[in-house]
Order: sequence, then structure tokens, then C-alpha cells
Amino acid sequence: METVKLNGDVKDIALAEKGKRRIEWANQHMPVLQLIRKRFIKEQPLKGIRVSACLHVTSETANLAITLRDGGADVVLCASNPLSTQDEVAASLIKDYNIPTFAIKGEDNATYYAHLNAALDHAPQLTMDDGADLVTQLLTKRTDLLKNFIGGTEETTTGVIRLRAMAKDGTLKFPVIAVNDALTKHFFDNRYGTGQSTLDGVIRATNLLLAGLRVVVAGYGWCGRGVAMRAKGHGADVIVTEINPTKAIEAVMDGFRVMPMNEAAKLGDIFITVTGNKNVIAHDHFEKMKDGAVFSNSGHFNAEIDIPALEKLSNGKKEVRPFVDEYNMKDGRKLYLLGDGRLINLAAAEGHPASVMDMSFANQALGAEYMVKHSKELKNQVYAVPEHLDQQIAKLKLDSMGFTIDKLTPEQEHYLASWQEGT
Ligand SMILES: NC(=O)c1ccc[n+]([C@@H]2O[C@H](COP(=O)([O-])OP(=O)(O)OC[C@H]3O[C@@H](n4cnc5c(N)ncnc54)[C@H](O)[C@@H]3O)[C@@H](O)[C@H]2O)c1
Repeated sequence: METVKLNGDVKDIALAEKGKRRIEWANQHMPVLQLIRKRFIKEQPLKGIRVSACLHVTSETANLAITLRDGGADVVLCASNPLSTQDEVAASLIKDYNIPTFAIKGEDNATYYAHLNAALDHAPQLTMDDGADLVTQLLTKRTDLLKNFIGGTEETTTGVIRLRAMAKDGTLKFPVIAVNDALTKHFFDNRYGTGQSTLDGVIRATNLLLAGLRVVVAGYGWCGRGVAMRAKGHGADVIVTEINPTKAIEAVMDGFRVMPMNEAAKLGDIFITVTGNKNVIAHDHFEKMKDGAVFSNSGHFNAEIDIPALEKLSNGKKEVRPFVDEYNMKDGRKLYLLGDGRLINLAAAEGHPASVMDMSFANQALGAEYMVKHSKELKNQVYAVPEHLDQQIAKLKLDSMGFTIDKLTPEQEHYLASWQEGT
């Protein structure tokens, strides 16, 4: 298939120098990806493979794109969220690294989809998604591109859920590797990465002191645990809402109060949703909130807070600080929505720190290599990252942090493998 030569679409190419410094800084904190990149340069496992990646365009993603390029891939990048792009990084990717990038922070919906389609014009053989938007577009609107397609990888929980639903009803036409499901991804990225960077986003947007405030965390999954743990560490009084009894017990035993959102709505000063669900904060909750309540979302889509309902209950809004919209409610209260309800850690802060994305993107790079090598053996299903790769990434990360661990002795190996032992 003939491919179009693409350059990209970014806010301002003159921002490239600042972007390059950010990319280099992130690189210093991504030792595992550095090792993979060194091997990729030698072995060229992705030689000639066209890759379209739809990821948050941040300094960490830039290092992943460079690694794939150095492994021989022909890479094009677009944003996986209209508010998560670091414009200077996008500029540097084009100017300094020759990687076509389509991403502008604050782009409208039409531009967002134009950028997705520009990335697809590259006629990819491999896609990388964060939320499955690229794959959805490919499978619904750009099916002409499926002919030489190898497979995809998916970064986040919400994307994996969408892809599993596609596989179940036969819509998925190629294999996908669920990077999110690797232990070296969600144990760390979702928990510690989202935990820290979500609060960073809330704090940068509002400059509120968390100590002494009531923070309501909706969802006690991998991300929610991290957010709740870090909010507690700041001295906040943390309340958790859940729909899953097991997760709710876990939250109780971790020392949090658990209650339905209808009750939490009356108490919270700050609300953070991380459920991957929709309308978790909705009409009735807005009606109960205190004057001055602040709410934000760190789940993948901006569907967790029912913004249309908020708009109906208010007489309008004004931006009082960057990423802070004040809604004047019809009953006189003022409520505050952060970052248009989009991932607050990427909208108002810088997303996950590089050292945690090091493991997530090591999974992406090794997942891409695995897909290219093994796609013919795979069905149109969602696959986990093979366990040996997951373990290899954990080992490399430990090495880079200067930690060593014990090895099983032959006697212990035998003991663990035998059902006759242990009496
Ligand atoms: N901000 C980021 O950088 C970032 C990083 C990783 C994942 N994510 C996204 O965050 C979301 C959560 O990811 P996760 O890995 O924690 O998922 P998870 O499945 O581990 O956790 C989600 C939790 O939300 C609960 N939940 C669902 N509906 C609810 C409701 N109405 N009220 C209260 N709780 C509810 C579920 O029971 C579950 O425990 C996903 O959309 C994911 O894609 C964001």
C-alpha cells in the first residue's frame, strides 16, 4: 500500500528547543527503556514496520516513539486526548527527531479526529492506543487499511475493556496486546503514577491545601487506591465510593470511610473520579454539594462527571484560573470543575512521572516487538503481555534502582514444585 509522507500538525514548531530538553530529562529517568533502545538499535526488530501511535503526547511518550524509531519502525504519533499534549514535546518530535506528530493541546473534537485520521493515513501495520480510539476508528471508518495490518497494543484499563467487548462480539479483526494488564504496568503506573500525578494536577490547578479537607475518591481500583493513599498522605480526610463490595471492604480495611456518592456529595470539599464509568458524579450529587466544592476526573474519558447536568443546574460558568471553571448554580452556590472533566493529571500537570512510564513503555516496546514476531500465531483476541517479559521488565527496573533480590535454591525450587513436600 502506498503511504503518504506526513509531517504533522503542532501548535508552534518554535517550541521545539524547550521540548527537546524535556524529552532528554525524561530519558534520564527511563533506564529500562534506554536498555531496550540500545538493543533495538542493534537488532532492528521493527525494521520497516509502519506504526501509528495514539498516546498522550508527553516527554515520556516521546522517548517511546524514539525507541520504536530506533528499532527500525516508521512511526507517526497523534494525541489520545485533546488536553494531554505537551506542545513543546510535539514540536521537538517533528523538528529534532523527525517523527511526524499530530497533536495540539486544547484541540477541538473535529481536530482531534482529524489528527487520528492523519495518523491512520500512514497506513499502519501496528497501532498503539491509549483508550482504543485509533483501533475503533480503524475498525469502523477505515477498514480499507486492515489488509496488511499486524496488530495493536493498548495502554489503559478503559481501552482494554473496549477491546475485550469488541473481541467478544467478533468486531476485533486482529490481535491486541493489553499492556495495561502487565503487572509492571498497572501495579505501578495506575497506582503510584496516577496517585501522585492526579493530586499534582488538582494542586497545580487550585493551589488548595489538602490537609484538613475532605477528599472523595470515586473508585477503589488500581488508580483509586493510589489517589486515596496519596491524598491521605497529604493529611486529607479521605472518603471512598465504590460499587464493588470487595474493593469497598479493601478501602475500609485500608482505613477509609466508604459510603454512597449521594452521602459523600454532601461532605466532600474535593472530588476525584477514577472509575472508568460514566455519570459517577451526576445531577443529584451536584444538588447536594457544598458551596465551593471542587471536582475533577482522572479516569480515561470525560464521561465520569455529568457536565451537561451541571450546565443545566447552573446559570453559566467562568474560568477563574487555568483549568478551573466556576459554575454559578441557580440556587446561588458556586461549584468548580477542573480541566473540563478530562484526565486532570494530564490536563493540569504533566501526567505520570518518567520513572513509572519507564516500565509501562518498556511493556509497549517489548509488546510491539512480540506482536511483530508472533502475530501469525495469534487470534483476533486481546492478549496479556507474556509473563517472562513482565518479569524481565521488573528485573531490569530493580537493577536500575540498585536493588538485588534472593534466588530460589534448588531445594526451594523442588519444595515449591512438589505436592509431597510441606508435611
Ligand atoms: N489518569 C491517568 O493517567 C490514568 C492512568 C491509568 C488508568 N486510567 C484510567 O482510570 C480509570 C480507572 O482505571 P483502574 O486501572 O483504576 O481501573 P480498575 O478497574 O482497577 O478500577 C475501577 C474501579 O471503579 C469502580 N467503579 C466503577 N463504577 C463505579 C461507580 N459508579 N462508583 C464508584 N466506583 C465505581 C470499580 O468497581 C473498580 O473498583 C480507567 O478509565 C483507566 O483507563 C487513568
